[in-house]
Amino acid sequence: MKKFIALGLCFLILTFTACNQGNKDSGSPFGNNDGFIVVGFSQVGAESDWRLANTKSMRETFNEENGYKLILKDAQQKQENQIAAIREFIAQKVDYIVFAPVTEEGWDDALREAKNAGIPVIIVDRMIKTSDDSLYTCWVGSDFRKEGDTAVAWMETTFKDRASLKIVHLQGNIGSSAQIGRTEGLQAGVERNKGWEVIYRATGDFTQVKGKEVMEFVLKQYDSFDVVYCENDNMAYGAMEAMDVAKKPYGLNGGVTVISFDATHAGLDATIKGRINYNVECNPLHGPRVETIIKQLINGETPDKLAYVDEAAFDAATITQEDIDARAY
Ligand code: AHR
Repeated sequence: MKKFIALGLCFLILTFTACNQGNKDSGSPFGNNDGFIVVGFSQVGAESDWRLANTKSMRETFNEENGYKLILKDAQQKQENQIAAIREFIAQKVDYIVFAPVTEEGWDDALREAKNAGIPVIIVDRMIKTSDDSLYTCWVGSDFRKEGDTAVAWMETTFKDRASLKIVHLQGNIGSSAQIGRTEGLQAGVERNKGWEVIYRATGDFTQVKGKEVMEFVLKQYDSFDVVYCENDNMAYGAMEAMDVAKKPYGLNGGVTVISFDATHAGLDATIKGRINYNVECNPLHGPRVETIIKQLINGETPDKLAYVDEAAFDAATITQEDIDARAY
């Protein structure tokens, strides 16, 4: 009989301990998991060098050495995967949900579930569209419209004496903030400058492979065009690959002018070599920025609801090796 009582007690103690390991109300500001802060990060995918640098920045910040456990889910550019990841994070009772939304629309239900579960949501990189901004704690990322405007301002100066300008436009993922802002910038430029015309526009999904495919098609359809406006470096690499094969001249030495975004290390290398004419920075180093926000929340402070990252732009005619060496991504 005594044996049974002892076994029963052991069982109760073990069950109680196991249950408490997943209990968010442990009284610690760091939540559960042996004092680690648990961050669930839903990443868009691995479509570009920029994205890889962004993932690296998150991994380097949110590791056990720094007091964090990171649960990273790669959504492979699919919104449904991101929604599933957010729901998994809620079920796992993470301390913070961080996510880089693949597109702007369609997040309210999942975010309302996070809010009801009391989990702060920090949005990074791209933004969402919602009529209820209490569904997320804050956002940090790029001003994509400003990036587009910067590229277009350079085009306006460079081509001010041209009566006409034929533009090929390689867009990123349709519906993502990066695509919307950069496309709006170009559209506004086309409306302002009477001789400008977008002769072909298609998405290259922010990937090199699709950028190449789109440019191969363009080269078959059109004999001449003046500018290729690529909404990221990887699509620019793909477009340049296709132009190399077709022996279509481009870059600083004449022919097609190549505009790009991201200004990653490899992108700036292509810029200093005169292959890309103008490259607008999009800074992916969000890990430390998100950590600052988390620390503010832990200290009971209110982080800025929206925080834009400072970004530069690089002209092939003036870029220096120091610009490239200073690049951390
Ligand atoms: O949202 C940032 C964009 O997404 C970057 O420009 C692009 O390279 C990435 O895939």
